[in-house]
Amino acid sequence: MSHYRIAVIPGDGIGQEVIPEGIKMVEAAAKPFDVTFEWVEFDWSCERYHREGAMMPEDGIEQLAKFDAIYLGAVGYPGVPDHVSLWGLLLPIRRQFDQYVSLRPVRLFDGIACPLAHKEPGDIDFYVVRENVEGEYSAIGGIQFEGTEREIVTQQNIFTRTGTDRILKYAFELAMKREKKHVTSATKSNGIYHSMPYWDKRFANMANHYPEIQTDQYHIDILTANFVLKPEHFDVVVGSNLFGDILSDLGPACTGTIAIAPSANINPERQFPSMFEPVHGSAPDIAGLGIANPIGAIWSAAMMVQHLGHDDIHDVMMGAVESTLKAGKALTKDMGGNANMQEMMAELMAHMPS
Ligand code: NAI
Ligand code: MG
Repeated sequence: MSHYRIAVIPGDGIGQEVIPEGIKMVEAAAKPFDVTFEWVEFDWSCERYHREGAMMPEDGIEQLAKFDAIYLGAVGYPGVPDHVSLWGLLLPIRRQFDQYVSLRPVRLFDGIACPLAHKEPGDIDFYVVRENVEGEYSAIGGIQFEGTEREIVTQQNIFTRTGTDRILKYAFELAMKREKKHVTSATKSNGIYHSMPYWDKRFANMANHYPEIQTDQYHIDILTANFVLKPEHFDVVVGSNLFGDILSDLGPACTGTIAIAPSANINPERQFPSMFEPVHGSAPDIAGLGIANPIGAIWSAAMMVQHLGHDDIHDVMMGAVESTLKAGKALTKDMGGNANMQEMMAELMAHMPS
């Protein structure tokens, strides 16, 4: 019998609506297996920031460290600048728990209208592996002569050998478990003089250790074009923090709606808890209306149980998602249907094995 303690941070807006539904799905799917969960909720959010002046308490990271995983909705709300919510909660968690892999699956499901012409389910099925703690997203740099004609701004990119090699290794290991065994590297070594040629060199070096894996690399500009033009080419795509960020929104967008897309922030060594969250934000435009699509949150929860070692529970949850989308009877507005969230939940639950 396994027991897990999960830290739950619903956050803001529709985060508070979809996260309870993800929990319900896990509980229902886990029933036949010998696995139990304890869900401990934290109200860390922009609401808390308004009330107490901080997104989370000072010892927030210490509190989370004791959990097996973190399940997060979304943070960010009008009235609190986005850099405050990001640097006050999400980034400290990702960095202090060394969640250096951001993993985002991209899959076209049967029943979803694909925005790309002539693509069938099965054509699009790949992973974006994004470096999540260094690269272009650094706080190193500064402004001098601010507000004058001589104003000068610098922003440093950070590429360490450890940081570069470990994300590349994760991508190759993931590809080893997949049928196509193919890794694509996102680069820009024609324009960026130091860091990207270095990235290419480490990629080639890593590829030498995996002779079974087929590799290629594209500059980020043509790579984005190829996501749209020939998504069936890709299997595992690895990129730096910035390139991975862009690709991991573009990928899911090519499969219909970002509202179903999940993401995992992983510490592969398991020294710290990993964090699972839908790709979408707090959607203030539809918050409180009860019409949010819960699938991004549900798929994220499925990745979480898989990370904890339970492929069986993951597969049950994803089976229900697949058959609900295929049946097409209770789709939310973002997918062209007219079901509300509870109607879609009823359909998802009905597709769970009883
Ligand atoms: P968003 O993802 O919240 O919304 C974009 C559009 O997609 C909206 O029209 C929204 O209604 C729709 N949408 C998103 N999720 C949906 C769902 N589950 N079902 C149905 N429709 C859905 O992105 P936006 O508007 O750029 O950001 C809103 C706030 O969320 C901002 O404060 C932003 O900083 C924050 N945000 C937080 C993220 C996180 O916590 N990881 C990620 C992205 C944005
Ligand atoms: Mg993003």
